[in-house]
Amino acid sequence: MKLTVIGCGHLGATHAACMAELGHEVLGMDSDMDKVAILNSGKAPFHERGLDDMLAKYTATGQLAFTASYAEAAAFADLHFIGVGTPQQPGTSDYDLSQLFGAVRRLAPRLTNPAVVAVKSTVPVGTAPRVRDMLHEYAPAGDAVEVVWNPEFLRESHAIEDTLRPDRLVLGVDAHHSRAEAVLRQCFGRITASGTPMFVTDWATAELVKASANAFLATKISFINAIAEFCEAAGADVGRLADILGQDARIGRHGLRPGLGFGGGCLPKDLRGFVARAEELGVGRSLAILREVDAINDRRRERTVELARRQLDGDLGGKRITVWGAAFKPGTDDIRDSPALAVAQKLHELGAEVTVSDPKALDNARKTCPELDFVADPVIAVQDADLLLHLTEWPQFSLVHPRRLAVGVSAPKVIDGRGTLDPVAWREAGWNFRALGCP
Ligand code: UGA
Repeated sequence: MKLTVIGCGHLGATHAACMAELGHEVLGMDSDMDKVAILNSGKAPFHERGLDDMLAKYTATGQLAFTASYAEAAAFADLHFIGVGTPQQPGTSDYDLSQLFGAVRRLAPRLTNPAVVAVKSTVPVGTAPRVRDMLHEYAPAGDAVEVVWNPEFLRESHAIEDTLRPDRLVLGVDAHHSRAEAVLRQCFGRITASGTPMFVTDWATAELVKASANAFLATKISFINAIAEFCEAAGADVGRLADILGQDARIGRHGLRPGLGFGGGCLPKDLRGFVARAEELGVGRSLAILREVDAINDRRRERTVELARRQLDGDLGGKRITVWGAAFKPGTDDIRDSPALAVAQKLHELGAEVTVSDPKALDNARKTCPELDFVADPVIAVQDADLLLHLTEWPQFSLVHPRRLAVGVSAPKVIDGRGTLDPVAWREAGWNFRALGCP
């Protein structure tokens, strides 16, 4: 099939490459010309495992290309995926839908043939009819343009496998149309043929299922982090507790990693947008639990700063602190709402001299936090530090031998904010070792 993908950020660029991998001819469209140039050179403008290889392969064969022109996109195909960003509106809990409506508004007047527009972006429930109305109003093809809601569940750092081998596919369709479902079934045929279930439902359910999934994932993380607070007070070990809890298949160990909590471009803003929309619809009380989920998550950051202060005898002024981690999680260079950087910035505000090390995210972090120091080598970054904080659990950090590190540090102190360092090895190497959620 021929198709386009409008919006080539993490979601869109991965989707475009994966659609080429499924055998389709794909034109990615993004209004950022620099991004388009990088993608056309066969590279991703961000770090995502395996994506560069895939982009290089399919841009070389011509099966995948990128453009900044809506006219080219509209002329290229009659199936258009939209994967533009829907960030949080600054100062509110609501989604900023300007990129989505902007894309629809620019695409629509160029749709002269019957077409299917499949939206992947995460939105507040009730957005699909607004997109349909805009398309019908502005497209010359009128109501022959159909809307499908096709939410995406990919995780950064696992984006390709989540796109090609998802747990499920969801199509939200308009009850009055059936062509769109057939087109999407054909598009995803190779995925469903390998056993992935496809759920066809109404628009509102498709919109809500995505928001509910992220709200549930966030709740699970905050649940174990609330227990971590309890463990700290009670002298228990939340890591062991989570291992034992996770043995119950109804609970499961996935998403139950205690620590500094969640960040990124999705979970925090989706949680807030979900609650804000529930309130608009008069059911805010039903989702009151999610406010606490957000609050628990914030408290993890505060707790880490507090623990750092205590480890440094109550005074952060002029203290040299090294933070391992800038990305919001390992495997990505994405620093949006990064818990590690939020803690680093807070420590700096409180007077500490903060040095940050990260295998992939330093360039992005440097742009956003010029007040911090950055050192690529995690061992060099720790030299002369008064305190080390391990805040993004890159495997590289766990591989550094604590004895090697302790050499350049006069009174070695470490706080493990992610529970992946081995306390026994660090203590044996002479470190004063503290971890979130442990006595
Ligand atoms: C999340 C969802 O997992 C995806 O299913 C969804 O498609 C995506 O948002 C989206 O809406 O686009 P992602 O933001 O890539 O994906 O990251 P996750 O792997 O879910 O991690 C989110 C945050 O939670 C990270 O900061 C991570 O460190 C933290 N986390 C995760 C924990 O603190 N504990 C855990 O057990 C799991």
